[in-house]
Amino acid sequence: MKVLVLHGSARKGGDTDALADHFLAGMAEAGRHEVRHFYAIDMNIAHCRGATCMACGGDGGTAGCVVQDDMQSVYPALREADVVVLATPMFWGYMTSQLKTLFDRLEAVVSPQYFGRKDFVLFIGYRHYYGSMVEWLTRITRAFDSRCHSVVCQTYDPKTQRDVPITDTPERLEEAFALGRRIAVGTGV
Ligand SMILES: Cc1cc2nc3c(=O)[nH]c(=O)nc-3n(C[C@H](O)[C@H](O)[C@H](O)COP(=O)(O)O)c2cc1C
Repeated sequence: MKVLVLHGSARKGGDTDALADHFLAGMAEAGRHEVRHFYAIDMNIAHCRGATCMACGGDGGTAGCVVQDDMQSVYPALREADVVVLATPMFWGYMTSQLKTLFDRLEAVVSPQYFGRKDFVLFIGYRHYYGSMVEWLTRITRAFDSRCHSVVCQTYDPKTQRDVPITDTPERLEEAFALGRRIAVGTGV
């Protein structure tokens, strides 16, 4: 299987990276997979120019995006992927801005060739709220006949009002591992 991992956090090895790592370990237990990682924070990705450009047509057609930057590596990787992992902390109720900038640029390829018939997997670390992200991905995957999976982890203790390391929540890491194994063997419902 081809696996694309889009990392949204600036903190390498942080909470959401740990969830993605456990997921990949679960997949690896079931066999070898081709995995590509993109760390949005390290990439040169311009903002989508939206209505001032529209060279792509905004219709997911064949024109693609004319902006020549690191997104030109993401497009083919997304098209070819069987499994697309999004790992992001919640920042102000949504994905991080660096990952959102990447997603805005996917507007050029919104089509079944790029989004259809895949397993999309969302890993979220949050303090208070994650619903908007799960709702967003559920809607997109449903529209393209893809499958949506999510593992969300509260990395915050409301009693002490402090962040807690994700290693204090081993059950979420185990959930990510088990999901990876299920998807790899084709039972990831
Ligand atoms: C600038 C900033 C904004 C945040 N905003 C939210 C938020 O709106 N909602 C929430 O539940 N958690 C929020 N958090 C908490 C992070 O999502 C959480 O700590 C996450 O587990 C960090 O994951 P990481 O280690 O992969 O970066 C915020 C954290 C930071 C640093």
